[in-house]
Amino acid sequence: MNIIFFGPPGVGKGTQGERLASEKGIQHMAMGDILRAAVRDGTEAGLKAKTFMDGGKLVPDEVVVAMIEDRIAADKNAGFLLDGFPRNVAQAKSLDAMLAKHGVAIDRIVFLDAPEQSLIDRLCGRLICRGCGFGFHRQYSPPQKSGYCDRCGGELYQRDDDREDVIAHRLEVYHEQTAPLLSYYQQRDGFTSLDASGEMDAVYAVLKQAVEN
Ligand code: AP5
Repeated sequence: MNIIFFGPPGVGKGTQGERLASEKGIQHMAMGDILRAAVRDGTEAGLKAKTFMDGGKLVPDEVVVAMIEDRIAADKNAGFLLDGFPRNVAQAKSLDAMLAKHGVAIDRIVFLDAPEQSLIDRLCGRLICRGCGFGFHRQYSPPQKSGYCDRCGGELYQRDDDREDVIAHRLEVYHEQTAPLLSYYQQRDGFTSLDASGEMDAVYAVLKQAVEN
């Protein structure tokens, strides 16, 4: 099964995407994680991406398109969940072209949405494990031991772009560049729009049903 997730920052794409991909036995391809790994490894693409990411701007299309095509080509037989790509209409058109080139079909396109204040609260409180990358939230899913990951004991940190000023800019970029994907995708077979404002398990139950129907 191949799935696309899109929606505003903080809506839960990573949280729900990781759970769904793991349950379905498919690859969770999170563009933000791929970019952050490239920044950490100091690759040429990572060096190009860093300034854009720190400022909450989109990394140039040619950089992300090349990175994701490699992953799709490698995992096309295993199934994948694309989280955070595409993020504008130009990227969606590039994705259509690369899927056609590699003979891959998309089964589900899921749009997740929640009110803006929830998005801000979720992003401001997000904590991520330096060791395994698992996500927590100070209030909504706190770790058992403050500052440390329940899964691997790694140290938890706050992302550089989860500061209120950068969050505000990421939301602007979302409205200008990513929200138009809704009209690009909503007539396609397999499209579904989901209210992701509820509690995590409740959102997951509705998501799972939508994906399996
Ligand atoms: P990326 O890492 O993809 O960030 P994003 O899209 O802004 O999304 P987030 O990861 O912030 O949020 P999410 O929806 O995954 O929410 P999460 O599940 O973590 O991208 C970062 C940057 O990389 C971009 O700004 C850009 O610079 C660059 N980039 C990435 N892709 C690109 C592309 N295609 N083109 C160009 N540039 C690109 O949840 C958030 C928090 O809320 C967590 O703490 C979680 O525990 C909590 N939470 C989740 N669901 C719930 C719930 N139902 N109730 C309560 N809390 C919840």
